[in-house]
Amino acid sequence: MPLWYGGDYNPEQWPEEVWEEDVRLMQRAGVNLATVGVFSWAKLEPRDGEFDFGWLDRILDQLHEGGVRVDLATATASPPAWLAKMHPEMLPVTAEGTKLWPGSRQHYCPSSPVYREHARRLVTAIAERYAEHPALELWHVNNEYGCHVSRCYCDASAAAFRGWLENRYSTVEALNEAWGTAFWSQRYDSFDEVLPPRAAPTFQNPTQLLDFDRFSSDELLACYRAEVEVLRRVSPDVPITTNFMGFFKPVDYWAWAKEVDVVADDSYPDPADPDAPAYAAMQRDLMRSLRGGQPWLLMEQAPSAVNWRQRNAPKAAGQMRAWSYQALARGADGILYFQWRQSAAGAEKFHSGMVPHSGTETRVWREIEELGQELAALSDSLAGTRVGGDKAAIVLDWDSWWAIEQPASPTALPYLDGIFAWHRSLTALGLTVDFVQADGPLADYPVVVVPSLFVASDAQLQHLHDYAAAGGRLVVTHHTGILDENLHVRLGGYLGRLQETLGVWIEEFSPTAGAIGVYEGAVVKAESAEVPAARLRGDVLGGSAAASSWGEVLHPRSASVLAEFAHAGLEGSPAVTVNEIGDGAAWYVATLPEPSAREALLSAIVEQTGMTIERVPEGQEVVRRGPYTFRIDLVQNTVEVEGAVDSED
Ligand code: GAL
Repeated sequence: MPLWYGGDYNPEQWPEEVWEEDVRLMQRAGVNLATVGVFSWAKLEPRDGEFDFGWLDRILDQLHEGGVRVDLATATASPPAWLAKMHPEMLPVTAEGTKLWPGSRQHYCPSSPVYREHARRLVTAIAERYAEHPALELWHVNNEYGCHVSRCYCDASAAAFRGWLENRYSTVEALNEAWGTAFWSQRYDSFDEVLPPRAAPTFQNPTQLLDFDRFSSDELLACYRAEVEVLRRVSPDVPITTNFMGFFKPVDYWAWAKEVDVVADDSYPDPADPDAPAYAAMQRDLMRSLRGGQPWLLMEQAPSAVNWRQRNAPKAAGQMRAWSYQALARGADGILYFQWRQSAAGAEKFHSGMVPHSGTETRVWREIEELGQELAALSDSLAGTRVGGDKAAIVLDWDSWWAIEQPASPTALPYLDGIFAWHRSLTALGLTVDFVQADGPLADYPVVVVPSLFVASDAQLQHLHDYAAAGGRLVVTHHTGILDENLHVRLGGYLGRLQETLGVWIEEFSPTAGAIGVYEGAVVKAESAEVPAARLRGDVLGGSAAASSWGEVLHPRSASVLAEFAHAGLEGSPAVTVNEIGDGAAWYVATLPEPSAREALLSAIVEQTGMTIERVPEGQEVVRRGPYTFRIDLVQNTVEVEGAVDSED
């Protein structure tokens, strides 16, 4: 397998005369993979059941002759107008009851039997026609599941939700118990009475909300599965993917990753945001982690500007290259773009393309060509290799993400704030950071950080306990083990099984000001002047330190106190503790310390493990993959690739 290079190719937007030039330019740029047909449903099936494959035959043949492999889409992401006209009941409906009409894209209810039946018919026709086509490399199912419509509240969705609930709970009594419906007279007498969490007077049932999140992720996955079932039957040897969107809240990628042959990701960091490279690094680490370190594909990135921010900054000279190397270093086996030729019409005409509006006498094109040559040179030695380095892990959990950001909580806390902060600190120490599930394999990681695992089953907490007791170094932060999987509180000091592991119990919450606000997607920021930010003191944090987001009244049982709160209200209450347990140790961090304090604490922990700390300045990355060490400066946008590192690496 080579390193893949290319992008989304939408030939239907252009007259056929342009296609020849497309293939010629692709060859010049070293393009070896084109994603074709993502939004072609209306052209492939212009009328109900009438297919027109002539144009697709011609372009696939041309690409094949030009040596370009094809990632062929199943084209189901944007239903044609005739389908919506014939069956308006397949259109999605918001929580407020607004129907979303055709005219943009992704206007389908994931539970709609009509949508699924028509999608299945289309996929069957495409699969049967192209399964043996010599250009076919990969199937690209749908596109960015859930991107615009991840939740539908229509009647078909309500019926599907009830089915999902019956499957989960069997009896309505069990649902009542799990949802805690004794509260506010919410009791159900039968599953027929249950609805999706449509717009309501005030706070909705939290477990209903969480189950609807779980259901909605599963329902999109069911759409994916229905297509995959056809593709596997018709072309069992062709690998299958669908494109993910990094840390995308609506869809639990742990469940999805099991069902793709290769993880593919779309990544659009903002060139004008100084935090973007650190966030992108984290996103790439997630993509590598989703299938246990297997190489993944950067399926979409912008050659330069996007068209969907308030201000769409172009990438600076060298920035696209530096970010592409960041993905390669962190395990990508392909660098692809949205899209090949910049559109002349439509809502994305101001989104950059590999072939810009102004043609090939442009900086963007030159950078595309140059990177293509560089990838071709690295291909044989890099493709298929794994990322090396000393490793730590962070637990990432969609249930906790969904639940922690529900309203009616102690504080508005964006879940990714903590994830991003701890990832950044481990990365700053030069460690390779993998993401793991709370009940996943942990034994290979000398250090595991668990930021705000708000929702956890007994089994998950036991698993974390066992990891520490067997010699692991477990770092648990606030908001962990507060609720069980039904969102019932763990009474008697929170933390459940982890009380013994950590040797502490919690008396009362005392949220503080200053959630750090995660890159793109912050929910909070507003702070009233009276709410204090936390102060901490403790040698392990480098003396005195600031902290944000959270505080609590914490009591050690067997744990030693390493740092305490030092601000009014929590003065003297433990903030960071450690507890020896079995052959390992478990730290508890009751707030979000500032970066220098996090790094001081983590260094002290990492030093106990025999791993090497190799501090890298902010904005720079040193990553080992295969025979190479990549030194990437994401401020200056420079890249050094050192070959053949010694055998210890
Ligand atoms: C992605 C999508 C592409 C294109 C791109 C623009 O979300 O998959 O089709 O819309 O964004 O940035």
